[in-house]
Amino acid sequence: MLKNKNVVITGGAGFIGSNLTEILLENNNFCILIDNFNNYYSGKEKRIDEILTSYEENKDFILIRGDLVNYSILEELIDNIDIIFHLAAQAGVRYSIENAAEVTTNNIASTVNILEYAKNVRVEKLIFASSSSVYGNPIYTPVDEEHPKNPISPYAVSKLCCEQYADYYFREYNLPITSLRFYTVYGPRGRPDMAIRKFFNLILNDGVITIYGDGKQLRDFTYISNIVEGLILAAEHHNVNGEMLNLGCSNPVSVNELIVKMYEIAQKPKNVKYVEKKKGDVEVTYSDITKAKKMIGYIPRIDIDEGLQKTFDWQKKLSDK
Ligand SMILES: NC(=O)c1ccc[n+]([C@@H]2O[C@H](COP(=O)([O-])OP(=O)(O)OC[C@H]3O[C@@H](n4cnc5c(N)ncnc54)[C@H](O)[C@@H]3O)[C@@H](O)[C@H]2O)c1
Repeated sequence: MLKNKNVVITGGAGFIGSNLTEILLENNNFCILIDNFNNYYSGKEKRIDEILTSYEENKDFILIRGDLVNYSILEELIDNIDIIFHLAAQAGVRYSIENAAEVTTNNIASTVNILEYAKNVRVEKLIFASSSSVYGNPIYTPVDEEHPKNPISPYAVSKLCCEQYADYYFREYNLPITSLRFYTVYGPRGRPDMAIRKFFNLILNDGVITIYGDGKQLRDFTYISNIVEGLILAAEHHNVNGEMLNLGCSNPVSVNELIVKMYEIAQKPKNVKYVEKKKGDVEVTYSDITKAKKMIGYIPRIDIDEGLQKTFDWQKKLSDK
């Protein structure tokens, strides 16, 4: 576990960034969050307030509001940064299809600025949040890191491009960087545009769940604490400098199976409608996590049943407030 480090978390007000920050603060790390609080969805201020209030006098915590597309934001940072978790990005596959240029500029320019900064100040480790979407529709499963990359959305192309920049900085400047390909992350503080949060919200409010396609599409849903553990393990291991690693559960379930589990947990009758599949959605995500297991000791401890129960408990509390 990382302790007593100076850590930058870009996208710190986001879903994964806020959960990572909480664990890093619990372990006496000094955390500097950078986020532009973009308006893709609401609730980011609340996440930050939650974290701030649990840390007296905010002494281990700095929040910088700003856009990483401008390098100048990084000039505000203190010296002696040990580790950077670069999680800031415009997420959302479907959003990227409608806003291709914006997503491309945002994700690639902000990543190149972080890489330049890390090169200039020589950090101990830089972690880049990539995505399983770089693979596109798998030609075999489970998908290992060598699988061909056939991205089918501007978001996925932007992530693949950032990985290539990361690889370039590793080769040219020996920058200690690892790219992690996350598989559909869910859990407390989850993004409201993502399926599990959206579905529980509809279930709790007796709404109708809309499924795009026939519901047979498989997703390797990965609980947030598995991802946070994977991020920290990757930061601690120098044998993965210059590597790309899958972080998933390696246990895909279909959207139809997911829905059944969710209604069972909520103890409500099923209420679902099916509409046409959306562009950019892949048929299957199914990670091979052998490399991450072997190289950093990654084990996804929380399975889908436990993860869904924990997510439901959090969301129920939220809706009861
Ligand atoms: N959630 C998932 O299932 C998933 C899967 C694969 C990859 N990822 C990647 O993991 C990272 C975190 O995802 P998340 O689900 O927490 O998303 P999120 O949208 O909740 O968090 C991203 C944060 O980055 C900030 N941001 C975006 N552009 C910025 C910029 N130019 N400058 C400063 N801040 C900026 C946003 O305001 C947001 O708070 C992202 O890079 C995402 O692409 C997420």
